[in-house]
Amino acid sequence: GTGGGVEPERPTFEQPLVVPRTERGADIRLVMRRSLVRARPHGPRTSMWTYDGSYPGPTIRRRGGQGTEVTIVNRLPRGAGSMTTHLHGDHHASQHDGQPTTQLIRRGASRTYDYPLTVDGRAAPGSFFWYHDHRMDHTARNNWRGLQGMFIVTDPPRDGLQLPRGRRDVPLMISERSFRADNQLTDPFASGSRMVGHHGAMAWVGPHAPPDDATIGDTVLVNGREAPYLTVSATRHRLRLLNSSPFSSYNIALSDGRPFLQIGTGSGFLPRAVVRTHVLLGPAQRADVLVDFAGATGKRIVLESDPASPGTTGDDARATAIMEFRVGSPARDASRLPARLPSPELVSPVPRKVSKSWTFGLSGDRRSGEHGGHGGHGTFWSINGKAFDPGRIDHRAGLGTVERWRFRNTSDVTHYVHIHAEQWRTLLRDGRIPPPWEQGLEDTWRLEPGEVVEVAARFTDYTGPFMIHCHMLDHEDHGMMARFDVVR
Ligand code: C2O
Ligand code: CU
Repeated sequence: GTGGGVEPERPTFEQPLVVPRTERGADIRLVMRRSLVRARPHGPRTSMWTYDGSYPGPTIRRRGGQGTEVTIVNRLPRGAGSMTTHLHGDHHASQHDGQPTTQLIRRGASRTYDYPLTVDGRAAPGSFFWYHDHRMDHTARNNWRGLQGMFIVTDPPRDGLQLPRGRRDVPLMISERSFRADNQLTDPFASGSRMVGHHGAMAWVGPHAPPDDATIGDTVLVNGREAPYLTVSATRHRLRLLNSSPFSSYNIALSDGRPFLQIGTGSGFLPRAVVRTHVLLGPAQRADVLVDFAGATGKRIVLESDPASPGTTGDDARATAIMEFRVGSPARDASRLPARLPSPELVSPVPRKVSKSWTFGLSGDRRSGEHGGHGGHGTFWSINGKAFDPGRIDHRAGLGTVERWRFRNTSDVTHYVHIHAEQWRTLLRDGRIPPPWEQGLEDTWRLEPGEVVEVAARFTDYTGPFMIHCHMLDHEDHGMMARFDVVR
């Protein structure tokens, strides 16, 4: 399990970090195909499902306001099935959202997604997103097999910010997998659970059924490689941290206690930069941070997950080393610590009344699950007591209106709630003003058992169906998703 308090084992960092190839065009074509990936330092390469031959797929870098078309072609092996690609965090039309059951890309076919990179007519402020498969019932498997990549919305050229750039602006996708002795991925989804009817709805039985459907890998990969190292100059660096694991969270810290200066949430800059020694990231959560390696020449600094740190939440995060920074000589550093960040405007005023409550829970008959489900009804993860049904509209939000939504967790595990279509302002966490690092825009929130979080956003530009779901991928596949429609 995840268990806190365990000393992180220190791997020998044997292979260099790889930064995926960058795509900068207005018209990008990515072919989903099976490829051999050098994930582990020794032995055979790993067969994965990739976007364009690498895991992670190419990093797309586009400036806010630069409309971008991404064509995804499905050349995956027979049996992989139809796919759908979602650009997580981005604001785009419903028909370009990578819907989980419609708009599927069949084998041999392709689909073009249109991302204007604007919100309400304005360029999206500096943020980074990620693209990943979103196929209903198979999202966990398809992401595990490798269908993940990053998308960075670059800062305008003359923003006066002078943040680290080029090789000092490093995307880090942290994700875990388990491997067999021959370095091939295990298949936690093969026979672990099956669907049964539950009073006309879906439910699951078997060893990988809720609440035991926690896909935890034994090996943490960064940009697809186990325990990599990165040689850095003794200067300031910008790290774009993304947790793309199916289930685990990481309480990210540097082994010498060196702090991060968090400047953004991945959904745009924070109103004020925040100094943090630990950054807790659950599945799909991101953080845009600066690290200054000045004075550390000759040192090896480990990026690790340290759940046991006092004064931070996240004791359910896993204890593990993630990667190593090998600090070289000082070098010329033209970067500056920004005095002011060009943070996006937060919606204001906000309604005092909650427009919609979403309750995240476990439903169904747990006993039958424990007995292998013979004749039982099974369990499912639920939102407002229901399992996901793509044909059911769970909420309607008016285009142009501001809504205040409340999440509540009635189950006994933490969930990570993600909303499509808009970026949200966090109003209250358990009745209190959220911590400074949650005062920017967000699209994914940690929701501990018993916790209540309230958020607000205006629905702009697009009508049609969008999703809200837990981003623990097995939970999402096993019912914890709902559909809301933006309507005129
Ligand atoms: Cu990152 Cu609905 O997904
Ligand atoms: Cu969950």
